[in-house]
Amino acid sequence: MTENIKEEIQRLKAEKNAVVLGHYYQRGEVQDVADFVGDSLALAQWAAKTEADIIVMCGVHFMGETAKVLCPKKKVLVPDLAAGCSLADSCPAERFEAFIQAHPGHTVISYVNTTAAVKALTDVVVTSTNARQIVESFPQDEKIIFGPDRNLGRYINAVTGRQMLLWDGACHVHEQFSAEKIAALKQQHPDALVLAHPECKESVLKLADVVGSTAALLKQAVRHPEHTYIVATEAGILHEMHRQCPHTTFLPAPPADGSCACNECGYMRLNTLEKLRDCLRDETPEIIVDPDLAARAVRPIERMLEISARLGL
Ligand code: 13P
Ligand code: SF4
Repeated sequence: MTENIKEEIQRLKAEKNAVVLGHYYQRGEVQDVADFVGDSLALAQWAAKTEADIIVMCGVHFMGETAKVLCPKKKVLVPDLAAGCSLADSCPAERFEAFIQAHPGHTVISYVNTTAAVKALTDVVVTSTNARQIVESFPQDEKIIFGPDRNLGRYINAVTGRQMLLWDGACHVHEQFSAEKIAALKQQHPDALVLAHPECKESVLKLADVVGSTAALLKQAVRHPEHTYIVATEAGILHEMHRQCPHTTFLPAPPADGSCACNECGYMRLNTLEKLRDCLRDETPEIIVDPDLAARAVRPIERMLEISARLGL
């Protein structure tokens, strides 16, 4: 059955000149049929350069929106439009605009996990791969508003010595990792290195040997497969880690509530192979962005892509 669906997906992709982009947090079987699997920055970079007529974004809504804003003439599909993001939801555009107005004279830097309406209020977008370098590309005394992730913002402030004003938002998946439980796991595996995404709380980041985006954490494992790793990010990344490092032991960091699967992003997992096949076949659900809004949102995204290209990211 699954094999049939995979074959259908391959046939539809070829027939329709469609490209399937997948985030590392997607279900393993969805990652397996994607043409490219990557982090948020890579997905935006691939979307910007693809020659396909249709982009199917196997990720969450803001990723589809970013692709649509970059490629307004292409059809951009997301297999399940209900695939939202608690972090993007923690930053409604009207409230963010009021925050910006209350703090005049600041450059606005926004994480890619935001709606197009928030990006339209932003000077430059960042992802966890380039946030540090993009912040550092501004003078040390630049007054900066950073939104919406308070944990990433606090981390960037700490490593750059900045005092950016932070929006008080967070991701419900990354916030639930427990420092106490990671410390206890580390006691059982004293040689294990802790890999943590910067959306995790400060107490978890303090225990981390490597803090980085999904792509950076994967790169560490590929470069040093001889270690055991405790992985504090959404569990979908383990699929690619196991694929690229089949002999390495990866231990998912335990969530505070041991009985839940809350290290999985329910939004990301809404996309299934069946929904991917159906959306390729029916060319729906489609991401629609108001063209005026897209024209304002594209500038900070392109600025991020330009700076990233200059920095070789
Ligand atoms: P990256 O893929 O940029 O590390 O982002 C993680 C994330 O939370 C995406 O939703
Ligand atoms: Fe959003 Fe968090 Fe899910 Fe990433 S893991 S899509 S930040 S809710």
